[in-house]
Amino acid sequence: MTVRKFTRNRLSIGLFGANCDGGLACSTFPERWRASWENCRDLSVRADEAGLDFMLPLGRWIGYGGETNHNGSNFETIAWASGILASTRRIMAFGTVHVTAHSPVVAAKQMVTADHIGGGRFGLNIVCGWYQKEFDMLGVDLGDHERRYDLGQEWIDLVGRIWSESEPFDFEGEFFRTRNTVLEPRPVDGTRPMIVSAGTSGRGREFALRNADMLFNVFYDLETMRSDNAELRAEARRQGREVGLFTNVGVVCSPTRRQAEDYHHYYAVEHADREACRVMMVERGLDRPEVPEEVRERFRLRAATANGATPVVGDPDDVAEALAAMAEAGCDALAVGLPNYLDDLPILVEEVLPRLEARGLRTGP
Ligand SMILES: Cc1cc2nc3c(=O)[nH]c(=O)nc-3n(C[C@H](O)[C@H](O)[C@H](O)COP(=O)(O)O)c2cc1C
Repeated sequence: MTVRKFTRNRLSIGLFGANCDGGLACSTFPERWRASWENCRDLSVRADEAGLDFMLPLGRWIGYGGETNHNGSNFETIAWASGILASTRRIMAFGTVHVTAHSPVVAAKQMVTADHIGGGRFGLNIVCGWYQKEFDMLGVDLGDHERRYDLGQEWIDLVGRIWSESEPFDFEGEFFRTRNTVLEPRPVDGTRPMIVSAGTSGRGREFALRNADMLFNVFYDLETMRSDNAELRAEARRQGREVGLFTNVGVVCSPTRRQAEDYHHYYAVEHADREACRVMMVERGLDRPEVPEEVRERFRLRAATANGATPVVGDPDDVAEALAAMAEAGCDALAVGLPNYLDDLPILVEEVLPRLEARGLRTGP
């Protein structure tokens, strides 16, 4: 089946996490993001008009606690993507789908429905699950790490067959057994949705390299970004595959560097939701005595800035320079968090994007 790719821009840029209250900013500041449907729709329409490439939601079932219960109020992602695709013309919208929570047959149909609403603009961010507490409310036992990926492999094999086969088939797996399976319609134009995966362990990367079109990673410095990206691309080629590379960034842009630093300090230090940041660190295994304090301190600021994504703080020249450096270090796509998406989108669109166009990394809207 033909795989869809980002083709318009050398560096694709989209917004990450707008389906959740707070977005990526783990902060109590009064202007924090409210993920109402009206806000999500207005944001997507503006992002679409500005020529941004995608809207990527977080897949969450519970919040991080703290004063704001950060991300606790959020929209289910396939339904959210469907609404966005119905409201926009060109931008892609992803669902972030937990394989352990969704029946593959039902999810395949929901995703095809979204795909048809968007005329072929739906994408799948596949998640095998990592945090048992989150799945307790669904009554789902994640099982051990290996088993999650075994299940994930069967899930995506079955979904792939449903999307591509026109005759009824039987599927005989360890986790899923179906009879006379066939769904109409199939994805738009005989192509299939782009698949993104953010597995980070050895097994997670193996899964992503085998199944995903784009690999999604968090980085701590440009050098690691460059070497990891090169290694992942080379490994994919050895397996006869071409993959794209995604990373996440928290952009804090203001007309001057000083204003951006003050804004960053205001929401991510003075108003950080410290308890929610602590829970985020516990979840990611970083709140342990053996993790050096300086690493924890660095992550605390990242957590408050953008749920752990790389902070990019500065004036439009600084931000364009930093994003261009990521492209140069091998990233094809950036999933961007903004302190408040609607308030902070204009400077990204009016000042940063034209600078990236001038560098040949993007075309205009
Ligand atoms: C940048 C990034 C974004 C992610 N977004 C989500 C998400 O929205 N929902 C979720 O449940 N997991 C999310 N994850 C978790 C991954 O899908 C994966 O389960 C986690 O990185 C653990 O990988 P591992 O199983 O290889 O150890 C994200 C991970 C990364 C690195």
